[in-house]
Amino acid sequence: MSNRMWGGRFTSGPDAIMEEINASIGFDHRLYRQDIAGSIAHARMLAEAGILAAEDRDAIVSGLEAVQAEIEQQTFTFSRALEDIHMNVESRLKELIGEPAGRLHTARSRNDQIATDFRLYVRDAIDTLSAQIEALQLALVARAEEEAETIMPGFTHLQSAQPVTFGHHLLAYVEMLGRDAGRFADARRRLNGSPLGAAALAGTSFPIDRQMTAEALGFDRPSANSLDAVSDRDFVLETLAAASICAVHLSRFAEELVIWSSAQFGFVRLSDKFSTGSSIMPQKRNPDAAELVRAKIGRILGALTSLIVVMKGLPLTYSKDMQEDKEVAFDALDSLSLSLAAMTGMVGDLEVNRENMREAASSGFSTATDIADWLVRVANVPFREAHHITGRVVALAEQRGIGLEGLTIEDFKSIDERIDNRIHKVLGVENSVKSRTSYGGTAPDNVLAQAARWKEALTGEKAEPTQRKSGGHGDGGIA
Ligand code: ARG
Repeated sequence: MSNRMWGGRFTSGPDAIMEEINASIGFDHRLYRQDIAGSIAHARMLAEAGILAAEDRDAIVSGLEAVQAEIEQQTFTFSRALEDIHMNVESRLKELIGEPAGRLHTARSRNDQIATDFRLYVRDAIDTLSAQIEALQLALVARAEEEAETIMPGFTHLQSAQPVTFGHHLLAYVEMLGRDAGRFADARRRLNGSPLGAAALAGTSFPIDRQMTAEALGFDRPSANSLDAVSDRDFVLETLAAASICAVHLSRFAEELVIWSSAQFGFVRLSDKFSTGSSIMPQKRNPDAAELVRAKIGRILGALTSLIVVMKGLPLTYSKDMQEDKEVAFDALDSLSLSLAAMTGMVGDLEVNRENMREAASSGFSTATDIADWLVRVANVPFREAHHITGRVVALAEQRGIGLEGLTIEDFKSIDERIDNRIHKVLGVENSVKSRTSYGGTAPDNVLAQAARWKEALTGEKAEPTQRKSGGHGDGGIA
């Protein structure tokens, strides 16, 4: 070849380059099931509408089933020269059944075909992800029940703020995941219109029954505008947006696992299954799975960014640009699925060091707000003033190098006469969390009630809040 620029694998020239850039079979082979299901529904509808003879339909349907079996048994040879999944399947169908294969593509185009296939694929992915989200929620709810009374520092600015219960913290993620599931369910509802029969872009002159193919494929309705049907990729964008937000949640949780499992925090221990040792530092346990979950948002959001840029400014209707929707979406949906599985595994195996959590929660004057609240509630001090008084209490404890619990009643009275013995009731972290009974607050009873509510919502079975064991966790060691 004279053009040196082509170099390497392209020495065979423009044909090879075109095949390389144009072919999608390298990735869209993943759509074989959806493609075949769409073709079978189409063939049945064509026969019903009198467009295809019954014998031809039967030959096509059993031929397509045979092709599917070959693909599943891995005896099928995909050909790049045949460009994409549609033509690979149809060409093999032709080899198997001959002439009737050529009648399948009546009243259809690859444009409505790919729009249909990919919708079906994304819909399946949403269903899988939704089930995985629920599984993670259930794992979190189970741990939340066990840890309803476990006290940990609640953070703002990653500074100890107020004591909370670990169960409450875990249920925060159950809430986030609940919204994620809602976003996927929403995307699924909008996605679920059938483009099949929009043909190339304008519809068709054949008397097709779009309602019939829509129903056969589990769609709620045929899409109402043929131009929109073949050019819309909102369903992928929405799904990737929902996936990105979900991945953000997983990433935040993963980051917490990384922090909590560090020697400095020592709140949790990830199981051996989800950590690795260092090749040169024998003391280390690295939270690799959590770190990778933390990172996956990069490629998931990357997929959304990539496709949103591809779609921007594309004139109606189909352009080949849209073929670029698949690789990124496959990768993003796979990554989210793997992240959910890893997170569910880590949550189930997590060892909690209740003693370390409690100790951290008690440090840093974390019950200062409770003193201020006590002054308001019991001594009728305006909150702003109470806040000021509490500041002086904290300063005194700090100066003595002791915790708030170490202050005597005389110490308190030296700051404000209105404080009496009853203040000691609110100084401990247990009392602090137990008092936070406002709706949505961290009190152990609230946590158990919320866990029961979620269990019922997720399993459909009525769940009674589990009883709190009196006396707390006692031993305070690793659960
Ligand atoms: N491989 C193509 C895609 O993924 C299928 C549709 C091709 N349509 C066409 N008019 N070339 O978008």
